[in-house]
Amino acid sequence: MSNRVYVFDTTLRDGEQVPGCQLDTHEKIEIARELELLGVDIIEAGFPVSSPGDFQSVVAVSKAVTEPTICALSRAVEKDIEVAAEALQYARRGRIHTGIGVSDLHVYNKLKSSPEAILEQAVRATRFARRFTDDIEFYCEDAGRARPEFLAKMVESVIAAGATVVNIPDTTGYCLPSQYGEKIAYLMNNVPNIDKAILAVHCHNDLGMATANAIAGLAAGARQMEVTINGIGERAGNTSLEEAAMVLKSHYENLGLVTNLNLKHIYPVSRLVSRLMRMPVQANKAIVGRNAFAHSSGIHQDGMIKNRENYEIIDPQDVGIPESTIVLTARSGKAALNYRLDKLGVMLSKEELAQVYENFLAMADSRKQINDSDLLELVGRERTWHKAEITLLEVDCGKEKPARARVEISYQGRTLYNEAEGNGPVDATIRAIDGIMQLDVRLDEYLVQAITGGGDDVARVHITLAKEGNFYYGFSADSDTVYATALAYMDALSKV
Ligand code: KIV
Ligand code: ZN
Repeated sequence: MSNRVYVFDTTLRDGEQVPGCQLDTHEKIEIARELELLGVDIIEAGFPVSSPGDFQSVVAVSKAVTEPTICALSRAVEKDIEVAAEALQYARRGRIHTGIGVSDLHVYNKLKSSPEAILEQAVRATRFARRFTDDIEFYCEDAGRARPEFLAKMVESVIAAGATVVNIPDTTGYCLPSQYGEKIAYLMNNVPNIDKAILAVHCHNDLGMATANAIAGLAAGARQMEVTINGIGERAGNTSLEEAAMVLKSHYENLGLVTNLNLKHIYPVSRLVSRLMRMPVQANKAIVGRNAFAHSSGIHQDGMIKNRENYEIIDPQDVGIPESTIVLTARSGKAALNYRLDKLGVMLSKEELAQVYENFLAMADSRKQINDSDLLELVGRERTWHKAEITLLEVDCGKEKPARARVEISYQGRTLYNEAEGNGPVDATIRAIDGIMQLDVRLDEYLVQAITGGGDDVARVHITLAKEGNFYYGFSADSDTVYATALAYMDALSKV
C-alpha cells in the first residue's frame, strides 16, 4: 500500500460552518490560493445547493486555482448532486462529495428511514453522481457511531457503485483513537473491494481527540485526511491540518506516511484564515499558537539556549515561524537575560550581568513581561526608537459622527502630532499613530481580553502586525481599552 496521504482541506466548507466566520467569495479565493501554495491535494470549496453564495464560491475557487482538485458537497439527492456538478464545471479536476447518515441514530431518528432504504439511496446517489465525473467521494455520516457490519456493507456498496474515496466521519467527535483506528482496520479487512477506493478520515474535536483519531485512522490504512486550518469547524472543530501534518512529519519513523505539503506555508495560511474568519487562534494552540514556541520558565530557557532540541520537538522555521521566543519574566534566569541582551548587541561581563540581573528582577516583578526596550533601558542603552512615547491621546467618538483621534508621540527630543478619523476609536487611534510612525504595516490581529468582566476591568490587548511576510507581536494592558491598544500597537511597531 502506498504511504502517500492525500490532504483534503475543508476550511472553506466544514470550517466555514463556524458561526460568525462566514467568508465572502473574494476571501475564499484568497484562502484557496494560499492552500494551493501550501500543497493541499483537494480543496472542499462549499456546499453549492445550500445558497447562491456558496454556489458562486465553488465556481470562483474552481476558476482561481488549478493544482488541487476542487470538491463540492451534496446530500445523497439528485438535485444537490446536479447543482454540485454545475458549480464544478470550471474546475480542472472536480470531485462530488455526496453521502448520508449511517448510524442507527441517524437512520431512524434523523432520516426516519431504514438501513435497507438508506443503502439503496446511497447507491443510487453514487451512480447518479458518476454521470458527471469519475471522481466521487461518498461520506458515511456519523460513521463513528455506526454498527461496523452496516458500515462495511455501505462502504462496499458505494465502491461498487463507483465511489473512489469513502469518507468515514466521526461526525460527533465521539470515538476514542483506538476505536476509530479499529473501525478503519475493520473496513480495510472486511470490505472485499476496498482496493478499488481509498478511505478518508474526517474527525471532529468534541472530546479534543480529532487529531489523535485521524492519525489512528491513517495508521490503520486510511490514505486521505480531512482537515481544516487552525482546526476550525462545526462546534469544537475538525482535525487541524497543521497538527496532523506535523504528527506525520515528526513520527515518520513510526508511521512511515508522507504528504505533499509545503510545511513552511503553514503559519502564513494560519494567520490568513484567522484574520479573514475573524477567529483568533488560542495562544497555546499546537504549532500555530502565539505561545507554541515561547519559553518562559528559567529552567526551560536555560535548556533552550544550550540546545533548542532540549525543549522543542519542532523547528519553528519548518512551519514558517522565524524563531522561538524567550519570554523574559520574573521567572527567567541569567542565561535568558544574557541571551536576549546578546541578540540586542549588548555584551556584559559576569559582574555587570549580575548587577543588571538584580535590576531586571525588580523590574520584572512590577511588569508582567520585559520587552527589548525595557532591557535596553536597564543597561542604559536605550534605542532611540524605543524612546517613542505616547504623550497625548484624545479620542472623540459616538453614533453621530466618525471617531476622531488626536495623538502626540515624543521621541528623539521631538514631539510629533497627528489626528485621524476612523471607523471607531481604535481605528482612528491606529490611523493617527500610523500617520506619525509611517512604517507601512498591516494590522493582522487585534485581540482584546477582559479578565474579570467588571467595569473597572483591565483590558489586555494583543496585536500582531504584518510586514513583508513577517509578523510582529505587541502587548499592553490598561483599564482604558483605547489607551491599551495604542500602547500595544507601539510595542508591536517597536519590533518592526
Ligand atoms: O462531519 C461530517 O460528517 C461531515 C460530512 C458532511 C462529510 O462534515
Ligand atoms: Zn465534518
